[in-house]
Amino acid sequence: MPDYTVTTTRYLGFADQNLTTLQSYILAEEDDHGGTGDFSWIISGISLAGRAIANKVRRARIDDVIGGLDSSNVHGEEQQKLDIIANEFIMRCLGDRADIGVLASEEGETPTIIRSPKEGGKYCVAFDPLDGSSNIDVSVGVGTIFSILKSDHEDFDDAEQLILQPGTKQVAAGYILYGSSVIFVLTTGHGVDMFVLDPAIGTFVQVASKLKMPDEKKIYSINEAYYDKFPAEYQNYLQWAHKNDYSARYIGSMVADVHRTLVKGGVFIYPPTGVHRKGKLRLMYEANPMGFIMEQAGGLAYADTDRIMDIEPEALHQRCSVIMGSKGEVENVLRFLRNGGES
Ligand code: AHG
Ligand code: MN
Ligand code: MN
Repeated sequence: MPDYTVTTTRYLGFADQNLTTLQSYILAEEDDHGGTGDFSWIISGISLAGRAIANKVRRARIDDVIGGLDSSNVHGEEQQKLDIIANEFIMRCLGDRADIGVLASEEGETPTIIRSPKEGGKYCVAFDPLDGSSNIDVSVGVGTIFSILKSDHEDFDDAEQLILQPGTKQVAAGYILYGSSVIFVLTTGHGVDMFVLDPAIGTFVQVASKLKMPDEKKIYSINEAYYDKFPAEYQNYLQWAHKNDYSARYIGSMVADVHRTLVKGGVFIYPPTGVHRKGKLRLMYEANPMGFIMEQAGGLAYADTDRIMDIEPEALHQRCSVIMGSKGEVENVLRFLRNGGES
């Protein structure tokens, strides 16, 4: 009888490997954690939206959806056509999922209540439908970032009350990177797992499980054009790094810079600047979900000297500074912030 043990070599295509799809992974996770399948239905909604967005990003120039609209979002930033398209895909793919209570988008001034907790709305999803959208026109990696919370108030006056919870309350978080491949990275609080979209079968297949970042890696990722506007402690850190054989990598899409940091190690930093005195990145749908991923992969995630996930949010679109990545590398930056700028 031939041995049908499936080999794990990957070069022959999916038929010769143990195929764990995002769907089967989530259902297994639900079993392990006593879930009822409603949570997996939300992740499958995000996966569907991600595949639709990936297709549109790939076809952006063909379908003439690059560039901006004449509108700006709540942050006063010019909206890119793909920002709106990505937002629509996610709202439609999640809006009809039975357990969704609130959807909060970077592109929406206020959160959208889909159904109250009493009507079965158990989860809130905060998301950045398209991160790094200034890179769309030049085919550089962009992505979608999401954070999933439980909407645990029974009575509430407005949707912000339901969703404004510290990052420690996240039940899941992740991102989809539309890069040279389409990568889905997810944590449900039990480590970080990575999936790649196999275009041959239109499915996310698992390629890594319980990812851990290197504790140290001499790579820093920061927009040094703003150097003169950084607080002195950050300037002193950079001068120290320049003298200690660091290399710099900065893509300008948080999702791509954080993914490189997850895979290779290093530190991603967006300090306070002259324009953004509290930092540019948004707590609820950029810093918190990425911070959850970093911590689950053995790294750290800080806003100046505060742990990002401990911050009590006051507004949906509030910003914070960001220092996240390898434990040793974040600690190097914190040493300068805590010692008045000395190493
Ligand atoms: P978004 O496209 O969702 O507005 O996010 C852009 C963010 C983030 O992706 C990136 O890290 C940062 O903006 C880059 O800012 P600078 O261009 O100021 O460096
Ligand atoms: Mn963003
Ligand atoms: Mn965005």
